Amino acid sequence: MKPSKGWGIVSKTLNRIKENLFFARGYIFPIILVNLLFVFIVSLSINVSQKSFIWISFVTLLAAIAELYFVGKNRKGELDTIKRIIGSIRYSSYKSAEEIKLGKLLGELEDEIKAMFLKTQSDIANLKKLEHIRTEFLGNVSHELRTPIFAIQGYLETLLDGALEDENVNRTFLQKANQHTINLNNLLNDLIDISMIEAGQMKMSFRYFNVNEFLETIISEMKPHAQKKGIELMLKQQAQNFQVYGDKDKLRQVMVNLIMNAIKYTEQGFVEIGVVDGTKSAAIYVRDTGIGISENDLGRIFERFYRVDKDRSRAMGGTGLGLAIVKHILEAHNSKIEVKSEFGKGSEFSFYLKK
Ligand SMILES: Nc1ncnc2c1ncn2[C@@H]1O[C@H](COP(=O)(O)OP(=O)(O)OP(=O)(O)O)[C@@H](O)[C@H]1O
Ligand SMILES: [Mg+2]
Repeated sequence: MKPSKGWGIVSKTLNRIKENLFFARGYIFPIILVNLLFVFIVSLSINVSQKSFIWISFVTLLAAIAELYFVGKNRKGELDTIKRIIGSIRYSSYKSAEEIKLGKLLGELEDEIKAMFLKTQSDIANLKKLEHIRTEFLGNVSHELRTPIFAIQGYLETLLDGALEDENVNRTFLQKANQHTINLNNLLNDLIDISMIEAGQMKMSFRYFNVNEFLETIISEMKPHAQKKGIELMLKQQAQNFQVYGDKDKLRQVMVNLIMNAIKYTEQGFVEIGVVDGTKSAAIYVRDTGIGISENDLGRIFERFYRVDKDRSRAMGGTGLGLAIVKHILEAHNSKIEVKSEFGKGSEFSFYLKK
Protein backbone atom coordinates (compact mmCIF):
# COMPACT_ATOMS: atom_id res chain seq x y z
CA MET A 1 0.00 0.00 0.00
CA LYS A 2 1.26 3.48 -0.94
CA PRO A 3 1.84 5.70 2.14
CA SER A 4 -0.56 8.70 2.26
CA LYS A 5 0.66 12.28 1.59
CA GLY A 6 -0.20 13.30 5.18
CA TRP A 7 1.93 10.50 6.56
CA GLY A 8 4.83 11.60 4.33
CA ILE A 9 4.74 15.14 5.79
CA VAL A 10 4.58 13.81 9.35
CA SER A 11 7.49 11.43 8.75
CA LYS A 12 9.54 14.22 7.14
CA THR A 13 8.87 16.57 10.08
CA LEU A 14 9.73 13.83 12.57
CA ASN A 15 12.95 13.16 10.70
CA ARG A 16 13.84 16.85 10.73
CA ILE A 17 13.14 17.05 14.48
CA LYS A 18 15.21 13.91 15.05
CA GLU A 19 18.04 15.35 12.98
CA ASN A 20 18.00 18.70 14.78
CA LEU A 21 17.82 17.00 18.18
CA PHE A 22 20.78 14.85 17.13
CA PHE A 23 22.86 18.02 16.50
CA ALA A 24 21.90 19.28 19.99
CA ARG A 25 23.00 16.06 21.69
CA GLY A 26 25.94 17.85 23.33
CA TYR A 27 23.49 20.14 25.15
CA ILE A 28 20.98 17.55 26.40
CA PHE A 29 22.48 17.27 29.87
CA PRO A 30 22.77 21.02 30.72
CA ILE A 31 19.32 21.86 29.29
CA ILE A 32 17.54 19.03 31.13
CA LEU A 33 19.39 20.00 34.30
CA VAL A 34 18.34 23.66 34.06
CA ASN A 35 14.74 22.69 33.39
CA LEU A 36 14.63 20.21 36.30
CA LEU A 37 16.03 22.94 38.52
CA PHE A 38 13.23 25.22 37.32
CA VAL A 39 10.57 22.61 38.20
CA PHE A 40 12.22 22.05 41.55
CA ILE A 41 12.32 25.78 42.45
CA VAL A 42 8.75 26.37 41.26
CA SER A 43 7.36 23.43 43.25
CA LEU A 44 9.22 24.56 46.37
CA SER A 45 8.22 28.22 46.17
CA ILE A 46 4.50 27.70 45.52
CA ASN A 47 2.59 24.92 47.05
CA VAL A 48 1.52 22.83 44.06
CA SER A 49 -0.73 19.86 44.01
CA GLN A 50 0.51 16.54 42.66
CA LYS A 51 -1.55 17.02 39.50
CA SER A 52 -0.13 20.49 38.86
CA PHE A 53 3.36 19.17 39.53
CA ILE A 54 2.94 16.52 36.83
CA TRP A 55 1.62 19.18 34.45
CA ILE A 56 4.47 21.60 35.17
CA SER A 57 6.98 18.75 34.69
CA PHE A 58 5.36 17.72 31.43
CA VAL A 59 5.28 21.28 30.02
CA THR A 60 8.89 21.86 31.12
CA LEU A 61 9.94 18.64 29.40
CA LEU A 62 8.25 19.83 26.20
CA ALA A 63 9.99 23.21 26.60
CA ALA A 64 13.34 21.40 27.03
CA ILE A 65 12.74 19.43 23.83
CA ALA A 66 11.83 22.66 22.00
CA GLU A 67 15.02 24.36 23.30
CA LEU A 68 17.07 21.38 22.17
CA TYR A 69 15.35 21.48 18.80
CA PHE A 70 16.21 25.15 18.20
CA VAL A 71 19.77 24.81 19.52
CA GLY A 72 20.25 21.79 17.25
CA LYS A 73 18.74 23.61 14.28
CA ASN A 74 21.08 26.56 14.74
CA ARG A 75 24.07 24.36 15.23
CA LYS A 76 23.26 22.29 12.17
CA GLY A 77 22.90 25.49 10.11
CA GLU A 78 26.28 26.79 11.28
CA LEU A 79 28.07 23.48 10.79
CA ASP A 80 26.56 23.13 7.31
CA THR A 81 27.84 26.62 6.38
CA ILE A 82 31.34 25.83 7.71
CA LYS A 83 31.32 22.51 5.82
CA ARG A 84 30.23 24.26 2.63
CA ILE A 85 32.95 26.93 3.00
CA ILE A 86 35.69 24.37 3.67
CA GLY A 87 34.48 22.36 0.68
CA SER A 88 34.57 25.46 -1.54
CA ILE A 89 38.12 26.25 -0.38
CA ARG A 90 39.12 22.63 -1.11
CA TYR A 91 37.72 22.87 -4.63
CA SER A 92 39.24 26.38 -5.12
CA SER A 93 35.81 27.93 -5.75
CA TYR A 94 36.66 31.25 -4.07
CA LYS A 95 38.47 33.99 -5.93
CA SER A 96 38.91 36.26 -2.89
CA ALA A 97 38.60 36.04 0.89
CA GLU A 98 35.67 38.48 0.79
CA GLU A 99 33.47 35.74 -0.66
CA ILE A 100 33.75 33.80 2.61
CA LYS A 101 30.77 34.72 4.80
CA LEU A 102 29.78 33.03 8.06
CA GLY A 103 27.47 35.63 9.58
CA LYS A 104 27.82 37.95 12.56
CA LEU A 105 27.65 35.30 15.29
CA LEU A 106 30.65 33.45 13.86
CA GLY A 107 32.64 36.58 13.02
CA GLU A 108 35.85 35.41 14.71
CA LEU A 109 35.72 32.04 13.01
CA GLU A 110 35.10 33.82 9.70
CA ASP A 111 38.26 35.92 10.26
CA GLU A 112 40.26 32.77 11.02
CA ILE A 113 38.98 30.97 7.92
CA LYS A 114 39.76 34.05 5.81
CA ALA A 115 43.31 34.18 7.23
CA MET A 116 43.73 30.46 6.52
CA PHE A 117 42.42 30.96 2.97
CA LEU A 118 44.89 33.82 2.34
CA LYS A 119 47.78 31.79 3.79
CA THR A 120 46.90 28.80 1.58
CA GLN A 121 46.71 31.08 -1.44
CA SER A 122 50.14 32.61 -0.77
CA ASP A 123 51.63 29.14 -0.07
CA ILE A 124 50.30 27.91 -3.42
CA ALA A 125 51.66 31.02 -5.19
CA ASN A 126 55.06 30.44 -3.57
CA LEU A 127 55.08 26.80 -4.58
CA LYS A 128 54.23 27.74 -8.17
CA LYS A 129 57.02 30.32 -8.17
CA LEU A 130 59.48 27.76 -6.78
CA GLU A 131 58.41 25.24 -9.38
CA HIS A 132 58.98 27.85 -12.09
CA ILE A 133 62.42 28.74 -10.68
CA ARG A 134 63.32 25.04 -10.50
CA THR A 135 62.33 24.42 -14.10
CA GLU A 136 64.21 27.51 -15.24
CA PHE A 137 67.26 26.46 -13.21
CA LEU A 138 67.24 22.98 -14.74
CA GLY A 139 66.91 24.49 -18.21
CA ASN A 140 69.88 26.77 -17.54
CA VAL A 141 71.97 23.96 -16.10
CA SER A 142 71.42 21.68 -19.06
CA HIS A 143 72.15 24.50 -21.46
CA GLU A 144 75.36 25.42 -19.63
CA LEU A 145 76.47 21.78 -19.52
CA ARG A 146 75.70 21.22 -23.16
CA THR A 147 77.86 24.15 -24.31
CA PRO A 148 81.27 22.81 -23.18
CA ILE A 149 80.30 19.21 -23.93
CA PHE A 150 79.41 20.12 -27.55
CA ALA A 151 82.63 22.10 -27.88
CA ILE A 152 84.75 19.19 -26.59
CA GLN A 153 82.89 16.78 -28.86
CA GLY A 154 83.47 19.11 -31.82
CA TYR A 155 87.23 19.39 -31.26
CA LEU A 156 87.65 15.64 -30.66
CA GLU A 157 85.63 14.71 -33.77
CA THR A 158 87.63 17.16 -35.92
CA LEU A 159 90.86 15.69 -34.57
CA LEU A 160 89.68 12.13 -35.25
CA ASP A 161 88.55 13.11 -38.73
CA GLY A 162 92.13 13.98 -39.66
CA ALA A 163 93.15 17.17 -37.82
CA LEU A 164 95.22 15.00 -35.47
CA GLU A 165 97.87 14.72 -38.19
CA ASP A 166 97.77 18.46 -38.97
CA GLU A 167 100.62 19.98 -37.00
CA ASN A 168 99.15 23.47 -37.44
CA VAL A 169 95.95 22.83 -35.49
CA ASN A 170 96.19 19.63 -33.46
CA ARG A 171 97.76 21.23 -30.36
CA THR A 172 95.41 24.22 -30.40
CA PHE A 173 92.35 21.99 -30.71
CA LEU A 174 93.50 19.82 -27.81
CA GLN A 175 94.21 22.90 -25.70
CA LYS A 176 90.75 24.27 -26.46
CA ALA A 177 89.10 20.95 -25.63
CA ASN A 178 91.11 20.88 -22.42
CA GLN A 179 89.99 24.43 -21.54
CA HIS A 180 86.37 23.36 -21.96
CA THR A 181 86.87 20.44 -19.57
CA ILE A 182 88.22 22.97 -17.04
CA ASN A 183 85.13 25.15 -17.61
CA LEU A 184 82.92 22.10 -17.17
CA ASN A 185 84.62 21.30 -13.90
CA ASN A 186 84.23 24.91 -12.69
CA LEU A 187 80.56 24.83 -13.58
CA LEU A 188 80.02 21.60 -11.66
CA ASN A 189 81.86 22.98 -8.62
CA ASP A 190 79.74 26.14 -8.69
CA LEU A 191 76.57 24.09 -9.08
CA ILE A 192 77.49 21.93 -6.11
CA ASP A 193 78.26 25.07 -4.08
CA ILE A 194 75.02 26.78 -4.92
CA SER A 195 72.83 23.74 -4.34
CA MET A 196 74.51 23.09 -0.96
CA ILE A 197 74.03 26.74 0.01
CA GLU A 198 70.42 26.88 -1.11
CA ALA A 199 69.63 23.60 0.64
CA GLY A 200 70.86 25.30 3.83
CA GLN A 201 73.84 22.96 4.09
CA MET A 202 76.59 25.55 4.08
CA LYS A 203 78.62 24.88 7.21
CA MET A 204 80.08 28.10 8.53
CA SER A 205 83.06 28.48 10.81
CA PHE A 206 83.34 32.02 12.20
CA ARG A 207 86.42 33.44 13.87
CA TYR A 208 88.55 36.58 13.97
CA PHE A 209 91.37 36.81 11.44
CA ASN A 210 93.89 39.33 10.19
CA VAL A 211 92.34 41.02 7.18
CA ASN A 212 95.62 42.37 5.74
CA GLU A 213 97.27 38.94 5.64
CA PHE A 214 94.09 37.47 4.23
CA LEU A 215 93.89 39.97 1.37
CA GLU A 216 97.66 39.90 0.64
CA THR A 217 97.58 36.12 0.14
CA ILE A 218 94.63 36.29 -2.24
CA ILE A 219 96.08 39.21 -4.19
CA SER A 220 99.44 37.50 -4.66
CA GLU A 221 97.60 34.49 -6.10
CA MET A 222 95.59 36.67 -8.46
CA LYS A 223 98.52 38.80 -9.63
CA PRO A 224 99.48 36.53 -12.56
CA HIS A 225 95.94 36.85 -13.98
CA ALA A 226 96.08 40.65 -13.71
CA GLN A 227 99.61 40.86 -15.16
CA LYS A 228 98.52 38.82 -18.18
CA LYS A 229 96.08 41.63 -18.98
CA GLY A 230 98.44 44.43 -17.96
CA ILE A 231 96.22 45.46 -15.07
CA GLU A 232 97.63 46.67 -11.79
CA LEU A 233 96.31 45.07 -8.57
CA MET A 234 96.52 47.41 -5.58
CA LEU A 235 95.81 46.90 -1.89
CA LYS A 236 94.81 49.70 0.52
CA GLN A 237 95.67 48.20 3.86
CA GLN A 238 94.55 48.93 7.41
CA ALA A 239 96.64 49.02 10.61
CA GLN A 240 99.00 46.03 11.03
CA ASN A 241 96.84 43.77 13.18
CA PHE A 242 93.38 44.73 11.94
CA GLN A 243 90.97 41.87 12.66
CA VAL A 244 87.58 41.08 11.18
CA TYR A 245 85.09 38.35 12.03
CA GLY A 246 83.86 35.78 9.54
CA ASP A 247 84.37 32.44 7.82
CA LYS A 248 87.78 32.93 6.23
CA ASP A 249 87.45 30.16 3.63
CA LYS A 250 84.04 31.31 2.45
CA LEU A 251 85.17 34.95 2.38
CA ARG A 252 88.14 33.86 0.31
CA GLN A 253 85.67 32.47 -2.24
CA VAL A 254 83.90 35.87 -2.17
CA MET A 255 87.11 37.83 -2.72
CA VAL A 256 88.40 35.52 -5.48
CA ASN A 257 85.07 35.93 -7.28
CA LEU A 258 85.02 39.70 -6.95
CA ILE A 259 88.69 40.20 -7.90
CA MET A 260 88.45 37.72 -10.76
CA ASN A 261 85.40 39.60 -12.08
CA ALA A 262 87.20 42.93 -11.74
CA ILE A 263 90.13 41.55 -13.77
CA LYS A 264 87.90 39.82 -16.32
CA TYR A 265 85.76 42.87 -16.97
CA THR A 266 88.55 45.46 -17.07
CA GLU A 267 90.51 46.14 -20.24
CA GLN A 268 92.91 48.71 -18.87
CA GLY A 269 93.68 50.53 -15.66
CA PHE A 270 93.74 49.06 -12.19
CA VAL A 271 91.86 47.03 -9.63
CA GLU A 272 91.98 48.34 -6.09
CA ILE A 273 91.13 46.24 -3.07
CA GLY A 274 90.77 47.99 0.27
CA VAL A 275 89.44 47.96 3.81
CA VAL A 276 87.62 50.92 5.37
CA ASP A 277 87.36 51.05 9.13
CA GLY A 278 83.96 51.83 10.65
CA THR A 279 82.52 51.97 14.19
CA LYS A 280 81.38 48.38 14.61
CA SER A 281 82.30 46.96 11.25
CA ALA A 282 84.77 47.26 8.43
CA ALA A 283 83.93 47.55 4.75
CA ILE A 284 85.91 45.58 2.18
CA TYR A 285 85.72 46.80 -1.38
CA VAL A 286 86.95 45.81 -4.85
CA ARG A 287 87.06 48.72 -7.28
CA ASP A 288 87.94 48.55 -10.98
CA THR A 289 88.26 50.81 -13.98
CA GLY A 290 86.56 48.29 -16.23
CA ILE A 291 83.60 48.15 -18.59
CA GLY A 292 81.09 48.93 -15.85
CA ILE A 293 77.51 47.71 -15.64
CA SER A 294 74.47 49.57 -16.94
CA GLU A 295 71.66 50.45 -14.56
CA ASN A 296 69.35 47.92 -16.19
CA ASP A 297 71.72 45.04 -15.54
CA LEU A 298 72.82 46.16 -12.09
CA GLY A 299 69.71 44.77 -10.42
CA ARG A 300 70.10 41.38 -12.06
CA ILE A 301 73.78 40.44 -11.84
CA PHE A 302 73.24 38.53 -8.57
CA GLU A 303 70.73 36.19 -10.19
CA ARG A 304 71.92 32.70 -10.99
CA PHE A 305 73.31 32.40 -14.53
CA TYR A 306 72.76 36.09 -15.27
CA ARG A 307 75.53 37.55 -17.42
CA VAL A 308 75.48 40.94 -19.08
CA ASP A 309 77.33 39.62 -22.11
CA LYS A 310 76.72 35.88 -22.20
CA ASP A 311 79.17 35.09 -24.99
CA ARG A 312 81.98 37.19 -23.55
CA SER A 313 81.55 35.67 -20.07
CA ARG A 314 81.27 32.13 -21.40
CA ALA A 315 84.35 32.60 -23.56
CA MET A 316 86.20 33.41 -20.35
CA GLY A 317 84.90 30.29 -18.63
CA GLY A 318 82.23 32.17 -16.67
CA THR A 319 79.08 30.42 -15.52
CA GLY A 320 77.18 33.41 -14.14
CA LEU A 321 76.95 31.72 -10.76
CA GLY A 322 79.83 33.61 -9.11
CA LEU A 323 77.90 36.61 -7.77
CA ALA A 324 74.92 34.45 -6.73
CA ILE A 325 77.32 32.44 -4.55
CA VAL A 326 78.93 35.67 -3.24
CA LYS A 327 75.50 37.00 -2.25
CA HIS A 328 74.59 33.83 -0.36
CA ILE A 329 77.90 33.68 1.51
CA LEU A 330 77.61 37.30 2.61
CA GLU A 331 74.02 36.79 3.71
CA ALA A 332 75.26 33.97 5.93
CA HIS A 333 77.53 36.65 7.50
CA ASN A 334 74.51 38.91 8.07
CA SER A 335 76.08 41.18 5.52
CA LYS A 336 75.06 42.33 2.09
CA ILE A 337 76.87 42.89 -1.16
CA GLU A 338 76.58 46.44 -2.49
CA VAL A 339 77.48 47.56 -5.98
CA LYS A 340 78.07 50.94 -7.56
CA SER A 341 78.88 51.10 -11.20
CA GLU A 342 79.02 53.46 -14.11
CA PHE A 343 78.76 52.03 -17.57
CA GLY A 344 82.08 52.38 -19.37
CA LYS A 345 83.89 53.73 -16.32
CA GLY A 346 84.16 50.99 -13.73
CA SER A 347 82.52 49.25 -10.80
CA GLU A 348 82.86 48.94 -7.07
CA PHE A 349 81.61 45.95 -5.07
CA SER A 350 81.67 46.19 -1.28
CA PHE A 351 80.40 44.48 1.87
CA TYR A 352 80.65 44.88 5.64
CA LEU A 353 82.17 42.51 8.17
CA LYS A 354 81.95 42.64 11.95
CA LYS A 355 85.25 43.69 13.53
N1 LIG B 1 83.50 44.05 -12.05
C1 LIG B 1 82.60 43.90 -13.01
N2 LIG B 1 82.56 44.74 -14.05
C2 LIG B 1 81.64 44.61 -15.04
N3 LIG B 1 80.72 43.62 -15.08
C3 LIG B 1 80.72 42.75 -14.06
C4 LIG B 1 81.65 42.82 -12.98
N4 LIG B 1 81.37 41.81 -12.13
C5 LIG B 1 80.35 41.13 -12.65
N5 LIG B 1 79.94 41.67 -13.81
C6 LIG B 1 78.80 41.24 -14.65
O1 LIG B 1 77.95 40.43 -13.87
C7 LIG B 1 77.78 39.15 -14.47
C8 LIG B 1 77.62 38.10 -13.39
O2 LIG B 1 78.83 37.92 -12.69
P1 LIG B 1 79.19 36.51 -12.07
O3 LIG B 1 80.46 36.63 -11.33
O4 LIG B 1 77.99 36.01 -11.37
O5 LIG B 1 79.34 35.60 -13.37
P2 LIG B 1 80.57 35.39 -14.36
O6 LIG B 1 81.74 36.19 -13.92
O7 LIG B 1 80.05 35.62 -15.72
O8 LIG B 1 80.85 33.88 -14.18
P3 LIG B 1 81.47 33.10 -12.92
O9 LIG B 1 80.35 32.23 -12.49
O10 LIG B 1 82.59 32.33 -13.46
O11 LIG B 1 81.85 34.10 -11.90
C9 LIG B 1 79.01 38.96 -15.33
O12 LIG B 1 78.75 38.06 -16.39
C10 LIG B 1 79.27 40.36 -15.82
O13 LIG B 1 78.47 40.63 -16.92
MG1 LIG C 1 82.38 35.91 -11.74
